[in-house]
Amino acid sequence: MAYFFTKPFEKIDLGPSGGVSICQPGCVRKPIGNALKENLRSIWNSKAAQELRKTVLDGNFKVCENCNLKENEEFCFSGDIDNAFMQDVIKNKKTIIQNPRTIKIGYDRTCNLFCNTCRDELKNKKEYTENAEKIQENLIQTGWLKKAEWLVASGQGEVFASPTINKLFQMLTPEEYPNLTIKIFTNGTLLTEQKWNSLNCKDMIKWIRVSIDAATKETYEKIRRGGNFEQLVSNLEFLDRLKKEGKIKNLELTFVVQKENYKEMTNFVELGEEIGATRMQFMQLKKWNKFEEEGEYEKMAVHLENHPEHEKFVEEINKIKNNKVFYELLEKFRD
Ligand SMILES: C[S@@+](CC[C@H](N)C(=O)[O-])C[C@H]1O[C@@H](n2cnc3c(N)ncnc32)[C@H](O)[C@@H]1O
Ligand code: SF4
Repeated sequence: MAYFFTKPFEKIDLGPSGGVSICQPGCVRKPIGNALKENLRSIWNSKAAQELRKTVLDGNFKVCENCNLKENEEFCFSGDIDNAFMQDVIKNKKTIIQNPRTIKIGYDRTCNLFCNTCRDELKNKKEYTENAEKIQENLIQTGWLKKAEWLVASGQGEVFASPTINKLFQMLTPEEYPNLTIKIFTNGTLLTEQKWNSLNCKDMIKWIRVSIDAATKETYEKIRRGGNFEQLVSNLEFLDRLKKEGKIKNLELTFVVQKENYKEMTNFVELGEEIGATRMQFMQLKKWNKFEEEGEYEKMAVHLENHPEHEKFVEEINKIKNNKVFYELLEKFRD
């Protein structure tokens, strides 16, 4: 199996403690630098970055020794190489790249919710904003936002609850940043029509993914703690209007499957169809740091084969197998 992935040549991820990654999500290698301590420009073409690019170009994956991702077929080959940029990189074995084409900003952990899969309290530390401000300033100084094609606002917090990212959204205008398109991952609760209209960058936002995890008010408010279901549905209806008017291209809805919600998968598909979502995605619950208490994750993770409700979960999955939904890793549980 020949391995190749394009990410180290075109994308940069900026994490909340300054960690900078140009590798696949889930890679076990340490970040290639820290944006709280070093200049992002030097990190992007640092020795570690060049080594990683070289290993991909040579196909020997020497620096990936401890990474189990390369054993996983999903990661063996990813990204589009049929474009002039990647063809030039491959032909000339380029390890120094002028600027990233995609910048993922996940540097603010601030959130207005405390979902039961992600955190246990609604507590936004001052340090979240302080770090986010420094990393964002470092990013602005690179000048990359004028050259990149995609800005992906995602990460471990909520974009619209972040004062820092809101400031960036007010700085970005289509006139000054004509090459840049914005992709947003959000819980959707703060994205009202009024909020949308106040955004200077609104015409640059073409792709929105909203995480929901439920189809009823009761379950939604139990999981997405701090959220209000009626407000969310009203915001989704507004986003659907934006899509119908052609202002945004993609409206995706996501659902992280757990014990509390797996019986609502069918209803979620119906909700998505009513809303006019481009795509609905079911995702596997991951054992994030939040699950400190022993056995807490195992109690919630119905996709685990030894979970007492696993068979019922498989039955639910099979009820929606003919719908146009995307199951991520849950694909394997379908008949
Ligand atoms: C951490 S959130 C950040 C963006 C935004 N606040 C949101 O909720 O969409 C990114 C994604 O992670 C998902 N998520 C939360 N906890 C998770 C877990 N334990 N395992 C897998 N995905 C999780 C959320 O549902 C969301 O789709
Ligand atoms: S999943 Fe998203 S909305 Fe929920 S607590 Fe985490 S960052 Fe906030």
